[in-house]
Order: sequence, then C-alpha cells, then structure tokens
Amino acid sequence: MKKVLVLNGPNLNLLGLREPALYGHTTLPDVEALCRDAGQKLGVEIECFQSNSEGALIDRIHEAGRGYKDGTVLGCVFNPGAYTHTSVALHDAIKGVDGLPVIELHISNVHAREAFRHHSFISPAAAGIVVGFGVDGYVIALEGLVRRHARQAAAT
Ligand code: DQA
Repeated sequence: MKKVLVLNGPNLNLLGLREPALYGHTTLPDVEALCRDAGQKLGVEIECFQSNSEGALIDRIHEAGRGYKDGTVLGCVFNPGAYTHTSVALHDAIKGVDGLPVIELHISNVHAREAFRHHSFISPAAAGIVVGFGVDGYVIALEGLVRRHARQAAAT
C-alpha cells in the first residue's frame, strides 16, 4: 500500500484552540484521525507529521521525495501555515524533489483574508490547491491526490 504524507506546518499543533472562528474546534489529532480514516477508504497508508520548524518540514519533503522515487510514496498533502507566504526554501524543496505531487491545503480561505496571505510561495510548485473547506479540505486533498494518481496510472 502506497503512503501519503500529511504535513502540517507552524502553529497547526494549536488547531482547536487557535482562532476557532477561523480554523474551527477540531484539534490536530482529530484531523490526523480524519485523514487516517479517509486513507483507509482510499486504500493508502497515511503518515502524519507536524513541525513549527522550516528545516524539519524541508527534511520530510526530501524524505517523501525519495519515497516517491522508490515507489513507496504516492504524494503529500501539505498545509504550510504561515510559511506559505514567506518560504522560498519550502518552494525549492518541493521543486528539488522533482515529481512528488504536493497538494497545498489551507483550512481558511486565505484569499478572503489579509493581503499578505494572498501570495503563496508554495502554489507554483504544487500539483493542486485546496482552500477554504475547513478541515474537510484534508479529505478533499487526499481524495484528489489518489484520483490524480489513478488517472495517471490508467493513462500509462
Ligand atoms: C493556514 C492559512 C495561513 O495563512 C496561516 O498562516 C495558517 C493556516 C490555513 O490553514 O488556513 O497558519 O495555512
């Protein structure tokens, strides 16, 4: 069974407590359980990782990139948090692993928020983007990733 990495960036460990009007009351362990449940239905193994450090996120993308090359990893669902709007290094990491499909995800609709959230360094390197569906976005992104993989596999 192929693996999907569900990667969460800075402050997402505070989900459920942090600005609930924007991000809801669901905690990160709840989100991870939601993803594992969706993974079971979709036939993929879910690996979850959260870090507040840019370097740790980069290392996990590199690791997933190696997994993608050896056929054990299908892709990555990534909520980069505030690094979305600042991190050339995360953009380069995704570009650098060459091929790993990364779905960028935001719980809130960043385009309906402050102007500084409208630009993403991640989007140009992403295979797809899910924005503004609350925590259900994780399930939508997982389904999209698996459907994309199936469509590509059928075409080859
Ligand atoms: C976020 C949106 C970002 O702008 C913010 O910095 C986050 C969460 C979201 O999921 O809506 O930390 O990525």
